[in-house]
Amino acid sequence: MRVLGIETSCDETGIALYDSNDGLLAHALHSQVAAHAAYGGVVPELASRDHIRRLLPLCERVLDEAGCGREDIDAIAYTAGPGLIGALLVGSTFAHGLARGLDVPVLGVHHMEGHLLAPMLEERAPAFPFIALLVSGGHTQLVKVEALGRYELLGESVDDAAGEAFDKAARMLGLGYPGGPAVAKMALSGTPGRFRFPRPMTSKPGLDFSFSGLKTYTRNTLRDEAGPEGADETLRADVALAFEQAVVDTLAIKCRRAMEQTGVRRLVVAGGVGANRALRERLTALEGSHQAELFFPRLDFCTDNGAMIAYAGHERLVAGQRDGTEMLAVPRWPL
Ligand code: KG4
Ligand code: ZN
Repeated sequence: MRVLGIETSCDETGIALYDSNDGLLAHALHSQVAAHAAYGGVVPELASRDHIRRLLPLCERVLDEAGCGREDIDAIAYTAGPGLIGALLVGSTFAHGLARGLDVPVLGVHHMEGHLLAPMLEERAPAFPFIALLVSGGHTQLVKVEALGRYELLGESVDDAAGEAFDKAARMLGLGYPGGPAVAKMALSGTPGRFRFPRPMTSKPGLDFSFSGLKTYTRNTLRDEAGPEGADETLRADVALAFEQAVVDTLAIKCRRAMEQTGVRRLVVAGGVGANRALRERLTALEGSHQAELFFPRLDFCTDNGAMIAYAGHERLVAGQRDGTEMLAVPRWPL
């Protein structure tokens, strides 16, 4: 079965073609980062309009690269949620229109399921069961994955998601959107040990997270340490590093705890923050110290993309799942 995957939940238009025998045939992505940068965050209406413009050309590019025609598409999978309602509706309408035109089955996929299955696209893919750390702009969750569709939520953020915390810290540090990569880059020139931020909710048992306190800590440190001219480059870099270390350390402590609690040693890291180099290094160290086996998607597939949706949809379609004619767009949708 050859499945066309369509991702439009936020600010990336992603299209991919996944084949049962040959795996990922082609994928293409258009990032809207530049369009939203001036506003300091995603503007939903601009996102929807840009998805409309990009979907068809991207789809044609993917088919060209795969050496396929429209008639080679056996089924279509699209992100049905969670995400921005307007952006979701664009993908959903496109998917249903195309499916109707081609007379092929169509299926709405959960965006976070796409993220958590993304490491399956790699040559070294995890076997079930595994623990997934999902860290994106909207979610921070630890999930026990028994099999496709069998997910147990072990813990999640009670306030800001990790990516959201990165984005907010970035704004305080005078950095642009998206904040995660910018904070990580600035942290590279920080001096370790100058500041130590708390590791929220790690002294209590449990697998929930809280990142909003780190935001306050960031703001207060910048205010208290700044000279009359404001926060200089050195101070900002030191704060960026302390912030990143606190987030990374907190995530690592909870991952270790989740593995100990469940006895599952395979750990998958997915979602945009999974692209963070310090996090990847810190978690990879658990392989030596805690007999963990770490699995990451390639960097391109940590952030939003069509390949993960094509893959997740493929797995469900092959298992016989189909949607009816209803176009799904579900802004809030628990995994
Ligand atoms: O998964 P994703 O692309 O979109 C959502 O579904 O939310 O994640 C985007 C989030 C943003 O908050 C962004 O700042 C963060 O992932 N991010 C990073 C890095 N790259 C992206 N955070 C920290 N370090 C990075 N290198
Ligand atoms: Zn995402």
